[in-house]
Amino acid sequence: MRISGAPVALVPTMGALHRGHVALVDAARSRGCQVVVSIFVNPTQFGPNEDLDAYPRREAADVAMLEAAGAALLWAPDVATMYPQDFATSISVGGVSERWDGAARPGHFAGVATVVTKLFQQVKPDIAFFGEKDFQQLAVIRRFVADLDIDIEIIGVPTQRDDDGLALSSRNAYLSPEERVTARTLPRALGEAAAAIGRGGDVAAALAAATARLAEAGFDPIDYVALVDAATLEPVDRLDGPARLIAAAKLGGTRLIDNLAVEPDL
Ligand code: PAF
Repeated sequence: MRISGAPVALVPTMGALHRGHVALVDAARSRGCQVVVSIFVNPTQFGPNEDLDAYPRREAADVAMLEAAGAALLWAPDVATMYPQDFATSISVGGVSERWDGAARPGHFAGVATVVTKLFQQVKPDIAFFGEKDFQQLAVIRRFVADLDIDIEIIGVPTQRDDDGLALSSRNAYLSPEERVTARTLPRALGEAAAAIGRGGDVAAALAAATARLAEAGFDPIDYVALVDAATLEPVDRLDGPARLIAAAKLGGTRLIDNLAVEPDL
């Protein structure tokens, strides 16, 4: 692949692939890249009471999807290859990883940073693609890539959504049919809050209204609904630069996250 001269792209995934992952492969191919996709359900980014064992694994369907999408190579290491018994290193990112999912899921972003660094070292891509759905994850990856002088271009790809607005996620498979209907409240509540803030509405009031709407629909707990600076992920109470509305909440046993860009109406 390297001899051909086209840039090598990496699309890291945990499998259970959907249209959102295909969009990452498409984005890489549209830049003329040869695309390596990794599938690895990374144990170090799951907390002790999280869904590591239940996480959907469907490698045969994933392979068929990647072939159809035109990926060139699949890298699917096993746990012993990634974390041999004497493995003792963790990459901990400060600042941008500390709030939100970093607070709700202690150790999660160290697990992500460590495995993504290993995948980078193994595949040695020129460029790597990540979904904007995991907006804080993308910010954490941009941070350690800059801090550690890793010479890989990081591209964020917009979230893919179902027709009713729900962001595509491998975890949507956990939702019962009733929960799947209720789940659309999350993008709707965020959309309304983003529009209100964009019109110049009070940020705290918009966040409170979105939180109340989620609670009414049955989301519990609601980990956060916040307006943040798009680069630092620090909370903001006014719209005076690129901002993102972010949220995480549980519906039944399924934790859903979503985010939207917020722009002032002109
Ligand atoms: O976004 C994911 O699927 C995972 O967090 C990643 C980036 C593949 C690391 O395990």
